[in-house]
Amino acid sequence: MASYDVIVIGSGPGGYVCAIRCAQLGLKTACVEGREALGGTCLNIGCIPSKALLHASHQLHEAEHNFAKMGLKGKAPSVDWTQMQAYKDDVIGQNTKGIEFLFKKNKIDWLKGWGSIPEAGRVKVGDEVHEARAIVVASGSEPSALPGIEIDEKVVVTSEGALSLPKIPRKMVVIGAGVIGLELGSVYARLGTEVQVIEYLDHITPGMDAEVSKTFQRLLARQGLSFTLGAAVQKVEATKTKARVTYKLRKDDSEATLDADVVLVATGRRPYTDGLGLEALGVKMSGRGQIETDAHWATSVPGVYAIGDCIAGPMLAHKAEDEGMAVAEVIAGKHGHVNYGVIPGVIYTHPEVASVGATEESLKEAGHAYKVGKFNFMGNGRAKANFAADGFVKILADKETDRILGAHIIGPMAGDLIHEICVAMEFGAAAQDIALTCHAHPTYSEAVREAALACGDGPIHS
Ligand code: NAI
Repeated sequence: MASYDVIVIGSGPGGYVCAIRCAQLGLKTACVEGREALGGTCLNIGCIPSKALLHASHQLHEAEHNFAKMGLKGKAPSVDWTQMQAYKDDVIGQNTKGIEFLFKKNKIDWLKGWGSIPEAGRVKVGDEVHEARAIVVASGSEPSALPGIEIDEKVVVTSEGALSLPKIPRKMVVIGAGVIGLELGSVYARLGTEVQVIEYLDHITPGMDAEVSKTFQRLLARQGLSFTLGAAVQKVEATKTKARVTYKLRKDDSEATLDADVVLVATGRRPYTDGLGLEALGVKMSGRGQIETDAHWATSVPGVYAIGDCIAGPMLAHKAEDEGMAVAEVIAGKHGHVNYGVIPGVIYTHPEVASVGATEESLKEAGHAYKVGKFNFMGNGRAKANFAADGFVKILADKETDRILGAHIIGPMAGDLIHEICVAMEFGAAAQDIALTCHAHPTYSEAVREAALACGDGPIHS
């Protein structure tokens, strides 16, 4: 039996970051992972591979639509799907090997296998039981299936199967207009697939600022995605090569069907805690299957902590990472903290969509007096030069104090631009603080400054 200060269960962004921080703080640390490679869903079958396919398909889109305009003539490239998959797999390998290197560098033991907690202070991996002063559960999440839909990961797929389809489908139905459905749907639309999205709500991307959501849907429709909103999927019947989706329109209960070569089920994820032995251990769970934790990520069982997708909050890699670092500090006797009010959310389509903090709808509901500063990328020189002038930056600030309450960006590099506003919000800045900061010209970031100026005396370029 080996003895550790901390054993982390799961090596996704929450778990591996936690393990590294624990080691950096001088704690003897091990991380349990049953997959062949470290990195969890994010690195192996989530964020990283999907970004590779988004990048490759965007390059194709640029070649097909914009190269000739810039005087780059010649035949647009054709798609070698096998090579695109190999490129994606290479990107995964580089990233997962990178974590392995970091583990060695920080002297973290990788306990290979699936872990369980037979009692507080003990972690079982295979036939071996290890001792730990603290245990951190970072076991992540899995796709939540819809009743009446059987996933075969070939014709009816989750995000995992959708990343590795044997060929590019002619027709794809996406169930759920959330982050996964729209990212992967837009990949295949750019690769030539006819993509039809079915969404239960009357709008896409639940929780998003409504103005952004509308613009986003319009831009995606222009890229060829078609949307059926207000429709509840009833069943999916599949053969070895085809599927039929039956849905009911909520407004009049009428039923309709759609046929496809591939159906992507992207209707959300749920915490993954199978086989950990949490119930027998007496760890309190919520009705939604999440592990309950206090403000310091401690569960109801002393010495057992939990972070990431298996606890409450947005299922985002960076939220899990922040919790991983913070809980490591708590275990080391320091003061770990996560500001849940400033966690950005990004959708990596083209254009990207990014948001942080309050939406207009949430401010209205709270009765908070606010003002809006908005700037269209059409007024940004760099965006026009790069065929990226669709979209806008919108900053929401307190009507009286000018303090930034939230921001929403749809446009080029939105996922990077949002962080200027995140930092400003962490410092409790006013929109004027951004407006008075010199921004290099010509950059996309000038659009952020112009939106901040729009909260005051007005932007220059609109
Ligand atoms: P989601 O919660 O973002 O969207 C699911 C959508 O499916 C919702 O719009 C919902 O109304 C719809 N839906 C549910 N049942 C339905 C039915 N029967 N018929 C039609 N529509 C139905 O979930 P998604 O996209 O699966 O993503 C799961 C999690 O993974 C999310 O928490 C997301 O934040 C995270 N994720 C984040 C990424 C990022 O940050 N870029 C990328 C991929 C995933």
